[in-house]
Amino acid sequence: MIGRMMRSASKRSDNVLLCLLVIVFFCVYRVRAEDIQYCSFFSNRAPSPQPTLKNCTWFKSNSCCMQEEIAATFGNVKPLPGANEKCQNYLNYLMCYICAPNQNVFYLRERLTVCKEFCNNFYEACRYAILKGSVIGNLYPNGSEFCLSRSFKVDDASNGKCFNHDFQEETTDGVMYTVYPLLELLIGALLLQCLLVWESWSVVKLGNIHLTNLLSWKTADI
Ligand SMILES: *[C@@H]1O[C@H](CO)[C@@H](O)[C@H](O)[C@H]1NC(C)=O
Ligand SMILES: *[C@@H]1O[C@H](CO)[C@@H](O)[C@H](O)[C@H]1NC(C)=O
Repeated sequence: MIGRMMRSASKRSDNVLLCLLVIVFFCVYRVRAEDIQYCSFFSNRAPSPQPTLKNCTWFKSNSCCMQEEIAATFGNVKPLPGANEKCQNYLNYLMCYICAPNQNVFYLRERLTVCKEFCNNFYEACRYAILKGSVIGNLYPNGSEFCLSRSFKVDDASNGKCFNHDFQEETTDGVMYTVYPLLELLIGALLLQCLLVWESWSVVKLGNIHLTNLLSWKTADI
């Protein structure tokens, strides 16, 4: 009789542990997904879905810019004479930084930091285009110098604090739209499951040693 009570109590505490894990995961996930991004180019407003974007379309699902703002920016930039299509594409990728929802990471104090890797590809693509009457390849020895001449800062992509064009994002246009709601649905279902074991929760002593261990481990881990 006593053994059966202890067995069911330990089953309940397993459920509570599972629920706590789900809740902790849920909180971390919300923080990761939302708190970190804002639009430093646009007075720190929040990014939002912009389904009508015609350029920089890979940011449709979450964008800092609106179509009118891209039109204004792109309209002000004259194409480089002698730029081939690849070079033109790189210029477009670069200008799209104003739409990136994580721009607060690489656009600080009105200064854009571009990844060295992007600068090199950009430079290689535009090497034969003309800038200020000279061929770019003759004006600058490498991508970093080219970017610096445009008054960008240059940093390694591995530091995670520079603009880089994500080619994968471009081809999986709008994937966030479908992944995030699905994840939320799954987490919602797990939370519901937790509500169902809520009653058992009140039976379990909250001083339970496993609970305390789990919580302190989780906080240290974050
Ligand atoms: C922006 O998109 C429009 C519509 O697709 C296109 O006509 C225009 O060439 C694009 N602009 C640039 C700079 O790519
Ligand atoms: C680029 O060229 C400059 C000037 O020649 C040089 O100082 C710098 O080290 C080069 N950077 C890279 C990444 O090669």
